[in-house]
Amino acid sequence: MIEIRPQEGIVGEIKVPGDKSISHRAALLGSLSREGIEVENFSPGEDCASTLSCLRTMGCEVNRDAVSGKVSVKAPDGLKEPSDVLDAGNSGTTARLILGLISGIPNIFAVITGDESLKRRPMGRVAKPLVVMGAKIDGREFGEKLPLAVRGRKLTGGVHTLQVASAQVKTAILFAGLRAQGATTVIEPTLTRDHTEIMLEHLGIPIFRKGLKVTVYPASTLKGASWTIPGDFSAAAFWIVAAAITEKSELQIKKVNVNPTRTGLLRVLQRMGLDYNIEDEILSGGERMATITVRSSSLKGTKVMPEEIPSMIDELPVLAVAATQAEGTTEIRDAGELRVKESDRIHAMTEGLKRMGAQIEELQDGWIIKGKTKLSGARLKSFGDHRIAMALTVAGLAADDSVILEGESCVHISYPSFFEDLKALTARSQPKERVSS
Ligand code: S3P
Repeated sequence: MIEIRPQEGIVGEIKVPGDKSISHRAALLGSLSREGIEVENFSPGEDCASTLSCLRTMGCEVNRDAVSGKVSVKAPDGLKEPSDVLDAGNSGTTARLILGLISGIPNIFAVITGDESLKRRPMGRVAKPLVVMGAKIDGREFGEKLPLAVRGRKLTGGVHTLQVASAQVKTAILFAGLRAQGATTVIEPTLTRDHTEIMLEHLGIPIFRKGLKVTVYPASTLKGASWTIPGDFSAAAFWIVAAAITEKSELQIKKVNVNPTRTGLLRVLQRMGLDYNIEDEILSGGERMATITVRSSSLKGTKVMPEEIPSMIDELPVLAVAATQAEGTTEIRDAGELRVKESDRIHAMTEGLKRMGAQIEELQDGWIIKGKTKLSGARLKSFGDHRIAMALTVAGLAADDSVILEGESCVHISYPSFFEDLKALTARSQPKERVSS
């Protein structure tokens, strides 16, 4: 457990870890390349380590320099039948994207599993369209839950209209489409993160996009490439809210990904009154990377629109924290997907913030939060979920007494140095006077 002490402000500059979604995709696509893909600033989290370990089990050459964060992946003789069960750990992205990557390799046999949390999460949303393409997949609960067994077969493309807005499902189908016969098209209900599309374009794979529709053609091998992965906006989000809701903050977040399909949080916070600016934007591997500066802000409540949800799906827990510090009512709906993430994030945040005295109402698909509330210190649980641990830590920074957080080690999933970074960013600010009761 860890004690989080209230702070006057978040001051200085920071570089957050490499983007998790982009890191998974770069490593997985490296498996289609003889020369290999080499990236700097690969995500240091356990989720991406799970992807690398599964790739090794399938015969890929994976090299990782722990100091520089450089990772290279290549498969000189293509992906091989795994010599053991593929363990995706806590990572939904690993399990779902690998399903798409391998379903179309004729005769390959693989079993994919994960930890207790991942074994509870829905997999049918990926398995079903792959089965329609010709894949042979089965598993617990008629293919809905891990472990899943895959026997690779020849796939056929086609048009897939998704029921859920999910970049993981979209990517799994596009990856399968690279080995399928004919064109594979995905039509999304709302635009989700488009890192796969950007990376395939960057790697010279023919891909066509128009609005919510994306089409790939067969391309089972890629040429080599190298680039630097930008910082993870979902990691930056915790510091953006921390700086906004504490009184004397001025924070620069360097070289962070500002792909608009990820930065919905910034647009919603801007509407709420966030004092920020973005500068020094450049492209890296086709992705936008910039410096975001955030200052203490007077926030007011807002209504989050359904079409905004996918661009901030992982940031909703920390937006809930910001909403407790905003004047008026914030309404977040159409976010039922949060119930099937690493934990039930709607319930986890309701419980944590309620314990701190927030006025938060739990809805089936989101929250109604009334502010501004002075949060109090409390003993909180992470529910083993990295984003809950970091969001509640941010709430603790704006509280009037210490938060004791249990189960904080799960931050290793995406952001192993989170608490060290917190220490560095709060070293120059005064811990706030405790309010005696
Ligand atoms: C991700 C997509 C999102 C997100 C997850 C990473 C990705 O999941 O929540 O953290 O890398 O494609 P869904 O596709 O399930 O919405």
